[in-house]
Amino acid sequence: MKKEKYTVTAALPYANGPLHLGHVAGVYLPSDIFVRFLRMNNHDVAFICGSDEHGAAITLRAKKEGTTPQEIVDKYNEIIGKAFNDFNISFDIFHRTSSDIHRETAQEFFKVLESKDHFTKETSEQYYDKDYNQFLADRYITGTCPKCQSENAYGDQCEKCGSVLSPTELINPKSTLSGKTPEMRTTSHWYLPMQRHEEWLTKWIKEGQLNGLQQHDSSKWRNQVTGQCMSWIDNGLRPRAMTRDLDWGVKVPVEGADGKVLYVWLDAPIGYISATKQWALDNNKDWKDYWTGDRKLVHFIGKDNIVFHAIIFPILLKAHEGLILPDNVPAYEFLNLEGDKFSTSRNWAVWLHEYLEEYPDKVDELKYVLTSIAPETKDSEFTWKEYQTRINSELADILGNFVNRALVLTQKYYDGDVPALGELTDHDKDVLAQMEAIPVKISKLVYNYKLREAQAEAMNLARLGNKYLADTEPWKLIKTDEKRVETIMNIALQITANLSVVLQPFLPNTAEKLSEFLDFKTTNWETAGSHHLILAGHKTNKPTILFQKIDDELVASEVARLEESKIIEANHDKQKDEVTFEDFTKMDIRTGEILDAEKVKKANKLLKLVVDTGLDKRTIVSGIAEHYSPEELIGKKVSVLMNLAPRKIRGVESQGMILMAENEKGELSFVVPEKDFISGCEVR
Ligand code: MF3
Ligand code: ZN
Repeated sequence: MKKEKYTVTAALPYANGPLHLGHVAGVYLPSDIFVRFLRMNNHDVAFICGSDEHGAAITLRAKKEGTTPQEIVDKYNEIIGKAFNDFNISFDIFHRTSSDIHRETAQEFFKVLESKDHFTKETSEQYYDKDYNQFLADRYITGTCPKCQSENAYGDQCEKCGSVLSPTELINPKSTLSGKTPEMRTTSHWYLPMQRHEEWLTKWIKEGQLNGLQQHDSSKWRNQVTGQCMSWIDNGLRPRAMTRDLDWGVKVPVEGADGKVLYVWLDAPIGYISATKQWALDNNKDWKDYWTGDRKLVHFIGKDNIVFHAIIFPILLKAHEGLILPDNVPAYEFLNLEGDKFSTSRNWAVWLHEYLEEYPDKVDELKYVLTSIAPETKDSEFTWKEYQTRINSELADILGNFVNRALVLTQKYYDGDVPALGELTDHDKDVLAQMEAIPVKISKLVYNYKLREAQAEAMNLARLGNKYLADTEPWKLIKTDEKRVETIMNIALQITANLSVVLQPFLPNTAEKLSEFLDFKTTNWETAGSHHLILAGHKTNKPTILFQKIDDELVASEVARLEESKIIEANHDKQKDEVTFEDFTKMDIRTGEILDAEKVKKANKLLKLVVDTGLDKRTIVSGIAEHYSPEELIGKKVSVLMNLAPRKIRGVESQGMILMAENEKGELSFVVPEKDFISGCEVR
């Protein structure tokens, strides 16, 4: 196998909030698997990440939390970095774009492009918020997406459909700062005339070949990546502003650019280079080796990052000259959560750091589930139910069960010593041949970025072992044919040893445990498939249980936690979008009275209420258990949203919603008529 050189990057997460499982499943876990596999195959790899600490994503968050951008990035860089560590993601470096070395690198990069005339300076009218004395680029402006009509598109991108936008394309633009319609003012910026690059870019993306440029195997690029790029190019490449009027970011390093910083999508990808520089400095290496020559650059990203990594950054790299272009840009689709999109503002998320605090021993369990459902080619969904099923019926019942049987029987029959291999039956030979074929299949899949299938193939080895023991039944045979059992157990142990190799990229902690049980370890992928990984006479250790089963209670409480956050939605600091009177009249709101109240089991915040609405008596689940005891609620007057679509919350069907006011401390109060009205009066 030819040894290659790789620089693998994982999208720098914005340091404006914690990571949720969607980020993990679509970028950090797959890149980690890929890199672990490459390392086992002795390729020369650098695995680069860090936090993205500039741009409007950061400054807006600071405004929201009432603090400074610096405090925001310090806080989230810490939380994110720790979560990666605890989740055993094996970056060579996790760096920061607020570092000096990054600023210098980004400024230098800008100056090179400027000196080679790759920018144009243009004066134009841009949106301006006069209440805040600020130009409104990127996330400072929101409006309706011209492509998909979603109402919450940002000035640079629509998160709903993934389109990359410019502020002036938005329909009905509003300032994120004041909420008002902005005015136009004149400002000047450095632009990247992308149209100049259309020809080579098209050829390079489609065919992967171009004189003097890094070549790639275009057949390996995912369809959606090539597709998105080509649709962008076909729409016509235009000049894109590479600077911004902001005071948070890397200062534009030329005269007459006061108050201007680099556009975050110029700044951040250069972060891959500056992180490599820091890592090289720390490890006595030359960073240039990782960005030049015969080396494969691979960017793992989410689909909303495609054009930045497959069009804009390649243009910048090529314009700079001397640096390699990506070999592949494996982009992931989105992961949903329990039937809904992940949403930070609605707290509809499973946060990685919270998961790790709660279940520090279930790192590989989560990795396994996330890889099994990874949104490689289409959006996919995480549910706690599936988390349970995958762990119980795959990890525990197949992998855990097989390994446990193999090792426990070895203890029992041979005091832990690996027995000798005797004469092989056709069945044995077939099993060994299958075992040998699995690592080859996995390799092929990994090199093609099909990690989901690759992990399934690794699990097939455990399946094979499980079935082999079930078919041969050594626990019965031991009474009649001890010799035969020695061969069976030797084969079972070879399968176990092979599992400790092929599982390493996917489930490194589990592979490590297997190695401890077996007192055998190799990190060399090329040994995988061998029929003689551990030799007869070698002593193995007593195993412990690999995977605890997940009980229904865990599933129920996690789902309840999510549902609670859905009921008590976040406070909004600005007025919502306009509705018509007709919209309003669609809501059927009436006065009512609580007849009965009880706690919902295993949910801290939920009460099950029976409410007299004048029309009927109905059940409503309400997230108010931390504010009221069931007893004090009986007889309370309330207002009820009657025609909210019924939904099941923790197994109870809720038929409506109680209206509550919430103050800034999070205290709740019922919204009721000021006079003593009977149940069933309409609220209009
Ligand atoms: N912070 C960006 C995001 O979360 C990704 C930046 S990737 C880099 O979408 F290329 F800019 F580094
Ligand atoms: Zn859209």
